[in-house]
Amino acid sequence: MALPPPALSRRLGDVRSSPVRDILELTQRAEVISFAGGLPAPELFPAELIADAFARALAPAVAARALQYSSTEGDPALRALLAARFCGRGLSCDADELLVTTGSQQALGLIAAVLLDPGDAVLVENPSYLAALQCFGFAGARLVPVPCDEDGLDPETLPALIAEHAPKFLYIVPTFQNPTGRTLPQARRARLAEIAAEHGLWIVEDDPYGELRYDGAPLAPIGAQPGAADRTVSVSSLSKVLAPGLRLGWLRAPPAILGPLTIAKQAADLHTSTVDQIAARTSLELADLDAHIAELCREYRRRRDALLDGLAGALPAGATFNRPDGGMFVWARLPAGWDAARLLRTALEHDVAFVPGYPFFAREPDERTLRLSFTTHVPAEIAEGLARLRRATAAS
Ligand SMILES: Cc1ncc(COP(=O)(O)O)c(C=O)c1O
Repeated sequence: MALPPPALSRRLGDVRSSPVRDILELTQRAEVISFAGGLPAPELFPAELIADAFARALAPAVAARALQYSSTEGDPALRALLAARFCGRGLSCDADELLVTTGSQQALGLIAAVLLDPGDAVLVENPSYLAALQCFGFAGARLVPVPCDEDGLDPETLPALIAEHAPKFLYIVPTFQNPTGRTLPQARRARLAEIAAEHGLWIVEDDPYGELRYDGAPLAPIGAQPGAADRTVSVSSLSKVLAPGLRLGWLRAPPAILGPLTIAKQAADLHTSTVDQIAARTSLELADLDAHIAELCREYRRRRDALLDGLAGALPAGATFNRPDGGMFVWARLPAGWDAARLLRTALEHDVAFVPGYPFFAREPDERTLRLSFTTHVPAEIAEGLARLRRATAAS
């Protein structure tokens, strides 16, 4: 008879598999047109470039280095290139302020490991990125939602929440947020930084989508706002602009916590894959990433427009949705009496899928909300998906 397993850790608590992953399982059938996943378009990966970069990284004269252990902080030349990208976005940054991570998801895990004890409060947007909620929940954090509107969180609500909960930090995805596609306007960024400085609030700014902008002018990151630089940990990733399979992210942190974060990474995985870092760096040296991003933006803009053009006709009368200037997601809300999870069941019978919004809320979910991703289908498929959604809505 098999022995019972050891008791699971208390911090595992009631952390569960992501409902979004479970929903994505249901959408895997080839005939489903899915607006559910948050994936980049695979046909737009620069696969030849990356293959060439790996071939160069593994060429006989240099392979020994690419296949060897390397430093926890990351490949120095890659860090210099990533620091330059942060500088290009208005965030002044030296290579030695950066830690390369195994995807930006690891950056979130390291931040949780270094800053959170069970019971600590973390302020989060309402709704927020699900895997960050899971990650902070796994560390035992109390997640405190900050009220949000169409422009993201309202900084004026923060002082009372800070006084009541003494949070360790605020976690925010300020540009083209996952799941809502919302962007925090400049005035709110500045005010958030001011309030953070006044009340001693630390900020974790997660920005994987900011460079996927289809309309309007870029906004300076929160870490670049006066008063925020010395209290912001900035996180980003190559996943959405190059390829997520590389698992390459990075964080920039003030020196007082960069050291502990580096130790936490040592304990987690010693370092991010040497060969992947060298191949990523070589890709950035061989090709113009900005030109590639411009190409992604051209194509994703067409796909976003295709979704926005047909969405009103596909959702029930009275549904509302936003029109994000970039990123991958549109956020919609069904009229009173509708439930997005119920609509999804009918939608799947019609071979179309989306993600209900409820898992993204730290506390009371809004069952009427849903997230639609527009990146993985061409406009004709999007139109067909919307026709199916219209039929599912009519059948509900
Ligand atoms: C807001 C946000 N942060 C972090 C991640 C994790 O990305 P990665 O670990 O691939 O860099 C994602 C992925 O979807 C995301 O949407």
